[in-house]
Amino acid sequence: MADAHPVEPVEFTYVPSREATDLVSLRDRYGLWIDGKFRAPASKRFLTTVNPATEEPLAEVAEGGERDVDRAVRAARRAFETWGRLPGKERAKYLYRIARMLQERAREFAVLETLDGGKPIKEARDVDLPLVAAHFFYYAGWADKLEYAFPGVRPAPLGVAGQIIPWNFPMLMLAWKVAPALAAGNTVVLKPAETTPLTALAFAQLTAEADLPPGVVNIVTGAGETGAALVRHPGVDKIAFTGSTAVGKLIQKAVAGTPKRLTLELGGKAPHVIFEDAPVDQAIEGVINGIFFNQGHVCCAGSRLFVQESIADRFVDKLKRRLSTLRVGDPLDKNTDIGAINSPEQLDKITELVESGIEEGAEIYQPACRLPDRGYFFAPTLFTGVSQSHRIAQEEIFGPVLSIMTFRTPDEAVEKANNTPYGLSAGVWTTKGSRILWMADRLKAGVVWANTYNKFDPASPFGGYQESGFGREGGRHGLLPYLEGVPR
Ligand code: NAI
Ligand code: MG
Repeated sequence: MADAHPVEPVEFTYVPSREATDLVSLRDRYGLWIDGKFRAPASKRFLTTVNPATEEPLAEVAEGGERDVDRAVRAARRAFETWGRLPGKERAKYLYRIARMLQERAREFAVLETLDGGKPIKEARDVDLPLVAAHFFYYAGWADKLEYAFPGVRPAPLGVAGQIIPWNFPMLMLAWKVAPALAAGNTVVLKPAETTPLTALAFAQLTAEADLPPGVVNIVTGAGETGAALVRHPGVDKIAFTGSTAVGKLIQKAVAGTPKRLTLELGGKAPHVIFEDAPVDQAIEGVINGIFFNQGHVCCAGSRLFVQESIADRFVDKLKRRLSTLRVGDPLDKNTDIGAINSPEQLDKITELVESGIEEGAEIYQPACRLPDRGYFFAPTLFTGVSQSHRIAQEEIFGPVLSIMTFRTPDEAVEKANNTPYGLSAGVWTTKGSRILWMADRLKAGVVWANTYNKFDPASPFGGYQESGFGREGGRHGLLPYLEGVPR
């Protein structure tokens, strides 16, 4: 009966185990990747991307202007003339080659992802990069089977896809966007996020080494204005966006009334529901993964925890103990669980929301932990005594902050879980199979995980509804937004 005699966690000291960075070679300055080459931007403007764990600059990248976006879209349009007509089995060969090269260079890409974005190396290495390669392999497999994927119709590519991605999973979001678009026969202009452009630029170079025809993949770096120029460009047939709900709404307005297709993958405030019969130790790990994976910079993060009242005190105690064993710090250290917050702006946003939680009367818990002196860091945080109306229960924090609430009955769990404008994901923990199905029927979320959390597979569609957006990425469904002539 360990619970009758709570044991303080044993403090292990870890010897630093830093991943080497010498396999990454960076230029001082990058142009825009257009038509298979780096080109100086017509805008003549550049942005600096920093390492959020040290605040040191890594490289300068071009800030694409209207003319630059136009050049990239024209290059993609020209390339579409041949790429769009290539037999699927030929397109597949390129995609398989890219997938294999990504596997071969996975360590280099993982280190670069960690340097530019701040995520722990063990996540970049064990989650992001393996999934990136898996997506390219998966969609390579569909490229020559589109008529089997959608029998009885003749699926055709749309043309040029404009794709805008965020900073939380830079390479993975690139893979989710680029792999299905190319498999379906489209060409792309991709705009990475301003704080994490470097892996996309390394990917651009990799496509050249894979002999991908120039113009099939174009990478235009820049910030919001560059993204807006891509959305506005009349030569783009489809916009795919992942990012904030606020920007998603702007894009929806800009695209309304044009023939452009649109998919939006936006924010979330996912409920994570723990029933009293749940396997408690596993559920604790699920909750930890659900909110602290990637510093909580995850659209599907399990940021609202609902624990059945009968086990709530015991569960929260265990959770606090587990929190005190998380290692926060240098993202390049292989022992690190929680790395750097992606940018000072995001750190300010997290800090402001956490302050609102305290002011509104919730009770904060943070384990004792020393944050590095430099860089952007935030300690893992729990709130108890949270009410439904608190901002920390309603707004997406996108940081390592969990809001804990309780419930008594399954009906109450459903009602509270669905009390959100979002609808991206949800988690349920119970040993009762029938209750899992009952909950999955009632939770308003695109993805429901049962007795696990944050499981991703290229064969499984992902996406939301309500303010979390529309359209699916992954699986056979993920081809649909890139095809014409397919009933949807
Ligand atoms: P954001 O939505 O501004 O950035 C996402 C991407 O959109 C970036 O590439 C950005 O350059 C681009 N962008 C910005 N304004 C644009 C415009 N008007 N037209 C076209 N593209 C534009 O997200 P931000 O400001 O970095 O983060 C703010 C909050 O959004 C976060 O705190 C988080 O709550 C949420 N967010 C959610 C994400 C998700 O995956 N659901 C990803 C990133 C942020
Ligand atoms: Mg950066």
